[in-house]
Amino acid sequence: MNEPTIRDLPALEGVRVLVRVDFNVPIEDGKITDDTRIRAALPTIEFLRDKDARVILVSHLGRPGGKVVESLRLAPVGRRLGELLCAEIKLCADCIGPEAETAAASLAPGEVLLLENLRFHPGEEENDPGFARSLAALGDVYVGDAFGAAHRDHASITGVPRYLPPVAGLLLERETRIIRDFLILPERPLVLVLGGAKASDKVAAVAKLLPKIDEACVGGLAGATFLAALGADVGGTPVPEETLLVARDLCVGGGRQKLKLPVDVIVGSTPTPHGEFRSSYADDINPGEQIFDIGPKTITEFTKIITRAKTVVWNGPMGVFEVEELAKGTRAVAEAIANSRARSLVGGGESAEAIRSMGLTDRIGHVSTGGGAFLEFLLHDDLPGLEAIREHSRARVPA
Ligand code: 3PG
Ligand code: MG
Repeated sequence: MNEPTIRDLPALEGVRVLVRVDFNVPIEDGKITDDTRIRAALPTIEFLRDKDARVILVSHLGRPGGKVVESLRLAPVGRRLGELLCAEIKLCADCIGPEAETAAASLAPGEVLLLENLRFHPGEEENDPGFARSLAALGDVYVGDAFGAAHRDHASITGVPRYLPPVAGLLLERETRIIRDFLILPERPLVLVLGGAKASDKVAAVAKLLPKIDEACVGGLAGATFLAALGADVGGTPVPEETLLVARDLCVGGGRQKLKLPVDVIVGSTPTPHGEFRSSYADDINPGEQIFDIGPKTITEFTKIITRAKTVVWNGPMGVFEVEELAKGTRAVAEAIANSRARSLVGGGESAEAIRSMGLTDRIGHVSTGGGAFLEFLLHDDLPGLEAIREHSRARVPA
């Protein structure tokens, strides 16, 4: 990688290292339901502890919108991290200010401090320089290791590297290396499987990636948007108007051949458990119905394409994966990817969760900790968080 990493740092004994991690994990009733992101941060934390650095961790959790939200405190994350590290994790009720400064300064070498949710302060998402400087005051060196949030132009990602010598952590390094390796001369056919609810992002991603790939199986709301762009009546499915044009241009512009869209879908009026759903041809949807999953014929079709592939990249569920009855398409895609002999790369919370909950992780080439960041890195081969480390490390060399 072109960015310096923690391995490039000279002696770290007693050095206050401010590490931006992505501990944005799912929590239900105070319990972490998937600790993958915490585990993924361990190599960097262990590396720093081994070198007797004083480790200060900062992360966001959820989207509290610049104010304190009790249910989004990082305490459960601290507990889990302590269990995984078999070490005490010190907590602090804020991420900046006198209390955080005292907590950071009183850490002994090798100790770990987890500061409170960054997004309790509006300055984080606003990338406020004052907030970034307050964070920077806590450390001597900055380590960017939040791959999952490295696409955000936020204070802890792109702001702090202006004020502290920045390097990349081992997770950031690993994710970018693996994803880059995948895309250098991938074995063909290279198939993209795309779904999820953010139709405009996904349609834009298809538009950009289509020239580089051989086929794209598109489900979720992006699939519905392409169907609508081709003139199908998708009933009450909320396809974003402004995205229809982009989707239409893509189809007219010769992309249609590579695009594999649902031929049948599962429809209903609301995506609630035990709801009434029926399978329908993609052009036979009633006005009150919405598309909630891909149908059985589409599953067969997508499975065939995935089975033929030599490289598969998957991001986003095919349907409303949280509802058991609407998870079939997503599960089928996960299984097809695990069963295929293709090299596979999976990103995005729900896709990764499908893989994990089905016990398929070992049969996937790489499951990324990033969702939006994963997609953006595929598109641009760079991320604001990486750029910030590169830019500002040129100007400063750690003492
Ligand atoms: C994620 O979950 O994708 C990252 O942690 C970023 O979170 P965000 O989408 O709320 O910025
Ligand atoms: Mg997300």
